[in-house]
Amino acid sequence: MLSMDARDLIDDLAEVLVVPSFTRLGFGLRRHLYGWPEAESYPMAGRTVVLTGPTSGLGRAAAGSFARMGANLVLVGRDAGRLERTRADLLAETPGVEATTVVADMASLASVRSAAAEILDRLPRLDVIVDNAGTMLPTREVSPEGFERTFATTVLGPFVLVARLLPRLVASPDARLVAVTSGGMYTQSLPLDDLGYERGDYNGALAYARAKRAQVALVREWARRLRGAGVVANAMHPGWADTPGLEASLPGFAKVVGSQLRSAAEGVDTMLWLAAAPDARSSTGRLFLDRRARPFDRVPGTRLSATARATLWDSVVQLTSEPDPTSEP
Ligand SMILES: NC(=O)c1ccc[n+]([C@@H]2O[C@H](COP(=O)([O-])OP(=O)(O)OC[C@H]3O[C@@H](n4cnc5c(N)ncnc54)[C@H](OP(=O)(O)O)[C@@H]3O)[C@@H](O)[C@H]2O)c1
Repeated sequence: MLSMDARDLIDDLAEVLVVPSFTRLGFGLRRHLYGWPEAESYPMAGRTVVLTGPTSGLGRAAAGSFARMGANLVLVGRDAGRLERTRADLLAETPGVEATTVVADMASLASVRSAAAEILDRLPRLDVIVDNAGTMLPTREVSPEGFERTFATTVLGPFVLVARLLPRLVASPDARLVAVTSGGMYTQSLPLDDLGYERGDYNGALAYARAKRAQVALVREWARRLRGAGVVANAMHPGWADTPGLEASLPGFAKVVGSQLRSAAEGVDTMLWLAAAPDARSSTGRLFLDRRARPFDRVPGTRLSATARATLWDSVVQLTSEPDPTSEP
């Protein structure tokens, strides 16, 4: 039987080598090393989860798991038809599941505000927000309010959603925020003076990596600012998982990694754990892969200081015209 230190050492070695960590190899290794309970074994009866992006890939897998765990679901998606099909499929899989659908384009602040108002109106209780919706675009697009679309979808929309739902979330005795980021964020820093990617030739993968780094920086700010309010906020990345989104945005990559891609169920394991496991409540403001906190930075020059993170927060408050949802002076 290996000591915990020996297990951590093996895990850290896999993590440093990246490929064995992000593929299904890493997931299998860690599950075996640590002997995890199945994520779906954590009960969520009586708890309400707001899940963005439930109509495909990781979000769809997570919706199925949350339903089996007994959670009440608020499915937030941009297409009413796809949302209703997802809801019908969930009901067929898990009869009796409580699933409410709410339409929101996460890139549109007006749409997110209206969705948040609808959620507050319809749901008396809210325990977990999972910010999962995400996209990588081949060319630069702008959101209805004129922001670069990847940044709007990944950063501005989720900020408004959490800000508006916060009064209901803090009322929960076990409030959690889980943001789904990407290991791709390790490759980029965030130019705080060019959040809208106005400068230079647009590169969709780069825009995605920057936005994911900003998303994690904001999660750290949420965690810091909400520590006294009992809300636990963490980010996780799924490694590389076989989803329609990955295939559409990086088809060559998906082909190369091929059978070594994680399944969607493996990709969402840590999301479910962060949302439901009692021991996951002891960490806040961290970035997880496979149920263990990982470094925020791997590449020199990409780190965002505490001051930079606070500046980002202020910029997002200003760009969204949202009143600062925290009491931070
Ligand atoms: N798969 C991976 O290996 C991987 C790796 C790192 C990070 N991630 C992250 O994991 C999350 C899920 O990705 P996935 O691989 O499951 O991709 P996916 O199959 O494309 O699913 C993405 C989901 O996000 C929704 N979405 C996209 N843009 C939206 C918008 N503007 N408003 C509302 N919903 C929107 C999609 O809705 P529609 O059905 O309407 O398109 C879909 O439900 C993303 O944040 C992604 O960046 C994935």
